[in-house]
Amino acid sequence: MESRKLKEKELLELESKYCSYGDTVHYLENPIIFERCEGSWIFDMQGRPYLDMQMWYSAVNFGYRNKEIEDAHHRQMATLPQVASQYLHKEKILLASAIAKETEKRFGTKGRVHFNVGGSQAIEDSLKLVRNYKKGRSLTFAFMGGYHGRTLAATEITSSFRYRKRYGHFGSRATFIPYPYCFRCFYGKNLKDCGYECIKHFEKLFETEYYGVIDKKDNEVEYAAFYIEPLQATGGYIVPPPEYFKKLSAVLQKYGILLVDDEIQMGFYRTGKLWATEHFGIKPDIVAFAKSLTNGLNPLSGIWAKEDLINPLIFPPGSTHSTFSSNPLGTAAGLATMEYIKKNNFEEIVPGKGEYILSRLKDLQKKHKVIGDVDGLGLAVRVEMTKPDGFTPDRELTDRIFQEGMKGDIKINRKKFGLVLDVGGYYKNVFTLAPALTIAYAEIDLFIELFESLLKRCGV
Ligand SMILES: Cc1ncc(COP(=O)(O)O)c(C=O)c1O
Repeated sequence: MESRKLKEKELLELESKYCSYGDTVHYLENPIIFERCEGSWIFDMQGRPYLDMQMWYSAVNFGYRNKEIEDAHHRQMATLPQVASQYLHKEKILLASAIAKETEKRFGTKGRVHFNVGGSQAIEDSLKLVRNYKKGRSLTFAFMGGYHGRTLAATEITSSFRYRKRYGHFGSRATFIPYPYCFRCFYGKNLKDCGYECIKHFEKLFETEYYGVIDKKDNEVEYAAFYIEPLQATGGYIVPPPEYFKKLSAVLQKYGILLVDDEIQMGFYRTGKLWATEHFGIKPDIVAFAKSLTNGLNPLSGIWAKEDLINPLIFPPGSTHSTFSSNPLGTAAGLATMEYIKKNNFEEIVPGKGEYILSRLKDLQKKHKVIGDVDGLGLAVRVEMTKPDGFTPDRELTDRIFQEGMKGDIKINRKKFGLVLDVGGYYKNVFTLAPALTIAYAEIDLFIELFESLLKRCGV
């Protein structure tokens, strides 16, 4: 144990000297080095178990070391682990076909799939697709509180100025529209009687040319696309009211604006559907996905787009080519993920577990006034921490709970555990829970015990 501790200390010293911090987010006061993972658990160098309720920002929906997906990866490793993206391999073709067919079943539209590495790159590719289809038109709408990645172009459609301010502008900064975050409505309304005031405000932009969006003489609109996250992810796992997207989509269709659906965090059954937009009865023009496409085994990402936008005549070879896009290890893992999904009924499993965790959290909310809001869709669950008035955001408390969870010393039945939570939200006061979709009910119960221990430890 002593030598492990020493090794950990040496590694942390090396990290502080040689690792850029720019590619990570150092939220922890005392960084931890992890060594092993399995199911819903990660283990540190001392072998301490941490129950992971965030699963790598929802990149590992099907559990760490998922055997079926890992085996497919091993088989690919032993046959064709490397081949240039300009040549074909069957896993790429089968994965693209599987996603295109499943998407066609849901949206009733023919389309194609296009790969890259990482969510931000998929977003970049979608921007090219939009600009190409809209003949160079580059203005977009996106949501306040939205997050689409940190490459230069992706930060232009991500609302936080913080991600842009050191680097200047690159391309066209989106016009940001309030997301329907009804717990803290931008317009100060109440969902019960607001009549979707937010949609009325958005549609008003098209009333006269003087609002800067449309030329009323020919009804031509200056904006090419609206980028949405069906549930806002980094923004705090916010679930929109049921009719919101249908109403938004009707406005977009009326004015010929493309709808780009960022499913990078909410896709692959996080909410109980392949694509979270399915809950809301809308049909996007483009879908971007990444993270759980390979269950986090390989940084493969992609976009699906309607045939009109992406067929080879309009979007020719080389439009966004990258060396590792459609790499064989990634596409093999992606294909295994799609097969795994087919064999397991996540449309039933996820809502069942989601309702259970929500009901347990709502019981906890009755006992602890500092839990201002609990909500969720499937296994995308939000716990918003507030002052005891149930509304004023409490960022400091949220951070304290998070830090305590990562100490790995919460005692339950004489065993010590850590708890991995992630913090999001406009005020950094929301635990965004994304447990493995394979989590056991007993593990959900353990989470509730661990979380309540942390609340007690923090004196609330
Ligand atoms: C909704 C959404 N879009 C885009 C991204 C960017 O993906 P990546 O971090 O793989 O670049 C993320 C990452 O968290 C995300 O949650």
